[in-house]
Amino acid sequence: MNEEGLARNVDLASLDSLVSQYSRQKWALIPLLQRIQDEFGYIPPQSIPIISRGLRLFPSQVQGVISFYAQLYTQPRGKKVVRVCRGTACHVRGGKTILKLVKQHLGLEEGETSSDLEYTLETVACIGVCALAPNITVAERVYGHMNPKKVEQLFKDYKGGGAA
Ligand code: FES
Repeated sequence: MNEEGLARNVDLASLDSLVSQYSRQKWALIPLLQRIQDEFGYIPPQSIPIISRGLRLFPSQVQGVISFYAQLYTQPRGKKVVRVCRGTACHVRGGKTILKLVKQHLGLEEGETSSDLEYTLETVACIGVCALAPNITVAERVYGHMNPKKVEQLFKDYKGGGAA
């Protein structure tokens, strides 16, 4: 599902309470954004005016910092982020097929999140374990030497609650 179609209720009272802990502390913008992301899984757009008022910053300053850091997300993300490696070592050992199969199993394209907010699919330049190529990670856990059978089994396990 396209991320624009995802909706998640944001507890504004909890957001206000977080922001109030950093009242008028402009230096605290990044730690505050990280805490908001930890709490909600992303930076809800409606938090930007609340943050800017609380820290006495312009909304454009808050937005600018969020846009600068790739690890700050403005869209809801799945509980499990699936990353498929597109690096050379993985590519030459069938990474393209693995990506195609993962997309089929999740019903997602790159950058998309499932409507139940369980999965987000991403690709990365290198996971850092090229010797195990082709690789994917699910919820930060590395799965190496992937092949079509292993992909099928992995998602069967995850969807059945067998993999953790
Ligand atoms: S290229 Fe895939 S892990 Fe390095």
